[in-house]
Amino acid sequence: MDNFNFYSPTEFIFGVDREIEVGKYIKKYGGSRVLIHYGGGSAVKSGLIDRVKSSLETEGISYVLLGGVRPNPRDTLIYEGIKLCRKENIDFILSVGGGSCIDSSKGIAVGVPYEGDFWDFYSKKAEIQTALPVGTILTIAAAGSEGSGWSVVTQESTKLKRDIGSDLIRPRFSILNPALTCTLPAFQTACGAADIMAHVFERYFTNTPEVEITDRLCEAVLLTMIKETPRVIAQPDNYDARANIMWAGTVAHNDIIGVGRSQDWNSHGIEHELSGLYDCAHGAGLAVIMPAWMEFVMNHNIMRFAQMAVRVWGCEMNFENPELTARRGIQCFRRFLHDIGLPINLYELGAKEEDIPLLVKNQGVGEGRTWGFVRLSADDITEIYNIAARAKI
Ligand code: NZQ
Ligand code: ZN
Repeated sequence: MDNFNFYSPTEFIFGVDREIEVGKYIKKYGGSRVLIHYGGGSAVKSGLIDRVKSSLETEGISYVLLGGVRPNPRDTLIYEGIKLCRKENIDFILSVGGGSCIDSSKGIAVGVPYEGDFWDFYSKKAEIQTALPVGTILTIAAAGSEGSGWSVVTQESTKLKRDIGSDLIRPRFSILNPALTCTLPAFQTACGAADIMAHVFERYFTNTPEVEITDRLCEAVLLTMIKETPRVIAQPDNYDARANIMWAGTVAHNDIIGVGRSQDWNSHGIEHELSGLYDCAHGAGLAVIMPAWMEFVMNHNIMRFAQMAVRVWGCEMNFENPELTARRGIQCFRRFLHDIGLPINLYELGAKEEDIPLLVKNQGVGEGRTWGFVRLSADDITEIYNIAARAKI
């Protein structure tokens, strides 16, 4: 196991109706004038925004509202949010929604105190020195942004999707009420599940030996998702299944299961160009890319893929031919994604094979992806998109 620091200071407030306590937590973390940032309307329709407003009013906290965050959040709304926060002297940002809303909030949070263009952080021209505090009320189990130090944003004019990472943008608190996720359409629930599982796999496929504790934690999250996802798709109001998935989504990405080991993250990078260019759901893009990546890199460590097949998918180990076991595990993953209603190839996703050269170029990684479980050249990335184009059950 490698040396590590684990710093995850977000306070999680979990359970039924906990969102009505939001005013109290904003006060605890120093907020007095709040931007309530939300998405395309689900939080208004469900009455959640009204409950939030009333909690803030009870605590005597003033606020302004900014809705309209789209999935794959855009830089354009962030510029608007920065302007509004400066004009209104905002000192705390409350995100009410999913990963897109949280990531947009984090973009605003780093942009307000910065004199230059906030995109400098996403294009790696500047380093984050300070940020407004962010709190969240999560409405979808998926991205893990409620406990992560990451934000992913698409630049409208170029369709490039880029990220920032800093402990300064980890939410101060996140309120997780699983009941809020019961209104999610089945497809969105499935996209969330794929993203959660991908966050585990990005950590599971490691070059660090002797990491039994985090291997086993990863497997526990994956087994939970395999059990609970079909349950919530069949019974959208099943609170306990929703609760298990919601917490799985947080632990999958606050890094407790990824410490002390090298991680990969190349499937995420390769997917981000799909959701940037086609505006598809990130989880749907991962359902197409991640099994394709697995097939491409499998030979780098057949025994690790065979371990996944046996421990996660319940396959029998073929000691004479471990490669067959490894392949079987990847097939089980793809079949699972298909069965929960996700696309498994580029066509089902709405992507075009002729765009592959552009997708590779958009990675902006020059010589290729020079980190992770397996380093990938531009040709390797092209081949992963090709495998994703041809994939079938
Ligand atoms: O906008 P509204 O009306 O709220 O609708 C949303 C949106 O259409 C809807 N939704 C959310 N909660 C709902 C609901 N509909 C009904 N009932 C509810 N309770 O779901 C749709 C998707 O929302 P979004 O926020 O986009 O989903 P998700 O949480 O999957 O976020 C995806 C974004 O997160 C990024 C992705 O790249 C993508 O842009 N990621 C962020 C990460 C991070 N910051 O750490 C890591 C991830 O790997 C990921 O890259
Ligand atoms: Zn993800």
